[in-house]
Amino acid sequence: MSSAERVSEFHNPDIEVLIDEATLKRRIAELGVEITRDYAGTTPHLVCVLKGAVVFLAELIRHIDLPLTLDFIAVSSYGNATKTSGEVRIVKDLDESLAGRDVLLVEDILDTGLTLNYLMNNFLSRGVRSLRIVTLLNKPARRIVEVPISYKGFDIPDAFVVGFGLDYAQRYRNLPFIAVLKNVVVDPPSR
Ligand code: IMP
Ligand code: MG
Repeated sequence: MSSAERVSEFHNPDIEVLIDEATLKRRIAELGVEITRDYAGTTPHLVCVLKGAVVFLAELIRHIDLPLTLDFIAVSSYGNATKTSGEVRIVKDLDESLAGRDVLLVEDILDTGLTLNYLMNNFLSRGVRSLRIVTLLNKPARRIVEVPISYKGFDIPDAFVVGFGLDYAQRYRNLPFIAVLKNVVVDPPSR
């Protein structure tokens, strides 16, 4: 590849940093300390919602000083666009049973609430011992369904954000910070 083709993804003119890396890491460390304290004496079972929450999960578990287990679930609600379909579908289900587990659901962003509302009800029907939600970001402006959040990293304004695991059409997950993607038209929630 010639130097002319080597355009930086991290210094892309379409993105504007909203939460820098140091701020993210500091807050995530605090969440880890809180979770460690609250779950003392138990073995929390962290369920990560693929793919967006993987970077957050990886950072978070390094600050949870407890025995813990992990599982992953993939759901589809956005497709490749910025419009919510209002429908949630499990694309990859969990490997392990949730029965009797202290489940901590790890999500990247709470937007309309449709995804977490669906997952919460789905997990409750699988006989969990307890269920809590940790989300890195909360975008309250577009909420359709209220979802109880136990742990939250940051409230953000009504903008489409990427980075630190979050994507736009599968791109930008590798940015080490949260950025606003400029010039993106986000459709209003469909219900
Ligand atoms: P909800 O079901 O509307 O709460 O949306 C949750 C999912 O939508 C998240 O897990 C993300 O995958 C996606 N999402 C919502 N807002 C954004 C955003 O600003 N950037 C990237 N993905 C988003
Ligand atoms: Mg997601």
